[in-house]
Amino acid sequence: MAAVKIGIVGLGRLGKRHAENLKHKVSGAALVAACSVVKEELDWARENLGIEALYSNYDQMLEEADLDAVFLVTSSAVHAEQSIKALEKGLHVFTEKPMGVDVPECQKVERVVAEHPNQVFFVGFVRRFDPSYAYAKQLIDEGVIGEPFLVRSQTVDLDEYAEFQVKFVPTSGGIFLDCNVHDIDLARWYLGSEVKSVYAKGGSYVHQAFDSVHDADNTVVLTTFDDGKMAVISASRTAFHGHDTHTEITGSKGILKIGMTPAKNRVEVFDGHGARTHCVRDFFERFHEGFLAEAQEFVNCIRENRQPIVSAFDGTKATEVGFAMTDSFQQGKEVQLHS
Ligand code: NAI
Repeated sequence: MAAVKIGIVGLGRLGKRHAENLKHKVSGAALVAACSVVKEELDWARENLGIEALYSNYDQMLEEADLDAVFLVTSSAVHAEQSIKALEKGLHVFTEKPMGVDVPECQKVERVVAEHPNQVFFVGFVRRFDPSYAYAKQLIDEGVIGEPFLVRSQTVDLDEYAEFQVKFVPTSGGIFLDCNVHDIDLARWYLGSEVKSVYAKGGSYVHQAFDSVHDADNTVVLTTFDDGKMAVISASRTAFHGHDTHTEITGSKGILKIGMTPAKNRVEVFDGHGARTHCVRDFFERFHEGFLAEAQEFVNCIRENRQPIVSAFDGTKATEVGFAMTDSFQQGKEVQLHS
């Protein structure tokens, strides 16, 4: 079977990593084109990946390049528009999370996806493809912890990235859409239920600069679900020990804990400072297996003519709940979800 011809769009912090995976590690993929609005990033793609078909304009890439699929790792604000354009060109689409930064544009993506049922549409909720998170889902489905009713999940980044995050807010949608969409997606996936209400609190405890962009550096959200299940979802941009994403699921017969200590590996250091483990530093170090697995699954879905486990509906729901959390935080009150 011919390799799937892919054009990557966005070669920033994460795009470069995805591009390297698609070029060297994903079987059945041929990375044949790249697009970025940053010239140095296109130079990087030519020099490091040997890609010749380089574009600074997305529409031009869609017109001219010989592609089966696009892989969108652009700023969050353009995911929905770029997804729609590619679907309407007859291409398969992988888009990084969030699927869109407002609900109507996500619903539009959903409609266009439904109009193109033979094309694969994939939202990059990478944690579903991390071996530990996937194993936890398998255990829940096997009934190992009985009926799950409470998820506690957090996304925590190193303080050293905070300055970058402040600049990122206008295109990322803020801490709830940028960080917590992952936790929202996991809570829905594990609990098998939809969010009914959110009550978000937070503040700029370390970096006041987040106030000026109506965002926060530390947040916590009490989330209730249609059937009375619950989630406590939190985020922080001020950790000093490492990237500390972890999740706990409580059920009627047991508890699953995923990655509670963000250990770099299994080595423990016993010395004058005590007993310690070194920590993973960033999302890529923590989730590098998941990023590779999701890209491989995208290509497999195309080659096997099937849809992935994560749908455009999941993309809309995560954005809808992330938006409600942002509203709740900014208004200082509980927000109900209506749909
Ligand atoms: P970045 O700012 O480093 O890179 C953005 C890239 O998008 C740049 O290459 C820029 O040239 C390109 N771009 C922006 N607008 C464009 C346009 N109209 N046409 C063509 N190219 C355009 O951002 P970063 O950190 O790489 O994030 C990219 C996306 O990946 C974001 O949506 C972010 O939410 C997502 N992400 C997902 C993570 C995960 O855990 N799944 C982790 C980090 C980022």
